[in-house]
Amino acid sequence: MARDTWFETVAIAQQRAKKRLPKSVYASLISASEKGVTVSDNVESFAQLGFAPHVIGATASRDMTTSVMGQEISLPVIISPTGVQAVDPDGEVAVARAAAARGTAMGLSSFASKPMEEVVAVNDKIFFQIYWLGTRDQIAERVQRAKDAGAVGLIATTDWSFAHGRDWGSPKIPEQMNLATMVRMSPEVLTKPRWLWGFGKGLRPPDLRVPNQGRRGEAGPTFFQAYGEWMGTPPPTWEDIEWLRELWGGPFLLKGMVRVDDAKRAVDAGVSAITVSNHGGNNLDGTPAAIRCLPAIADAVGDQVEVLLDGGVRRGSDVVKAVAMGARAVMIGRAYLWGLAANGQAGVENVLDILRGGVDSALMGLGKSSIHELTREDILIPDGFIRTLGT
Ligand SMILES: Cc1cc2nc3c(=O)[nH]c(=O)nc-3n(C[C@H](O)[C@H](O)[C@H](O)COP(=O)(O)O)c2cc1C
Repeated sequence: MARDTWFETVAIAQQRAKKRLPKSVYASLISASEKGVTVSDNVESFAQLGFAPHVIGATASRDMTTSVMGQEISLPVIISPTGVQAVDPDGEVAVARAAAARGTAMGLSSFASKPMEEVVAVNDKIFFQIYWLGTRDQIAERVQRAKDAGAVGLIATTDWSFAHGRDWGSPKIPEQMNLATMVRMSPEVLTKPRWLWGFGKGLRPPDLRVPNQGRRGEAGPTFFQAYGEWMGTPPPTWEDIEWLRELWGGPFLLKGMVRVDDAKRAVDAGVSAITVSNHGGNNLDGTPAAIRCLPAIADAVGDQVEVLLDGGVRRGSDVVKAVAMGARAVMIGRAYLWGLAANGQAGVENVLDILRGGVDSALMGLGKSSIHELTREDILIPDGFIRTLGT
């Protein structure tokens, strides 16, 4: 009998991913930092928000199309850049195909496992994500490669402080996943034959290289070589961000805002978009949930730049809450990684379908015909929920 691969919620995708992946690979998707306060708040704060539904007033069809950085998208959800997509042999290419099939855009991590040229070939709405890593000349070379490849936007991620240490222990990630490593990890890997078989079919072990940190056509450094270089690079200044934006010359998103003053500074730097984000709780533990920081930032700069949100989105109703609180669209991370781990490209499509269905039924319940009609009046916001940082 064929395996039933469809799942009805993101939580079930997560359970499947946990079952299918070797323990340390699954742990690397969970990630987070220190006590996990921020990662939990990202998810739980969505549950603290309620709805104010109508009983009559729903329309027969609901519009959820919008645009992000000049790209038309069929729902207000795009793929957030994440490294480690070597959880699936097709990795970022599978994710890009799924996003294209569902009419949306994708942020491609500079720590991706697939060359950007292969990813852009299957989805023409790719925003390349860059970290401030290496010299200006090296960064300029990467930017040029992304332009040549046909990326339609640049995402600059700055919220990373190399926080190590998790109370539940960090996974041991090998430098390279070769036969020797497989043997060393054998108890956890061999108990997951289906996952291993996915790579075995193509005779390609999971690759822990980051080809987009090197030149086109080269294998690129290993993840740890690139990470080491990044740790040795002084963090960017606002002048560096302005330089990068000018160098790119096209749609530019600054990822990782939680403060109003930083968001205003990003406007001054000429960015086209920002995402209210705490890196999915992977950075400075104790940073409030992204959804708590969204309203103040949207009020301050929402008429000057596109304001997105990422962190904790697991349901279509979360997407609706974020849009009603001021986001133009959301970016998802773990939700699609779990879908990818559970069922490859089809699993990512499944996740996007779950979110689309959830947005649609929330709009119906609220009596709205479009995401563009959502306002804060549709949401029950508990006292003290909103955090206004940096005013
Ligand atoms: C495993 C993992 C890897 C990530 N890698 C990157 C990355 O390479 N670049 C980046 O800008 N953000 C990265 N992020 C952060 C995501 O883009 C996004 O901000 C976060 O996952 C959103 O939270 P969510 O997972 O709750 O949706 C990563 C997140 C996870 C979970």
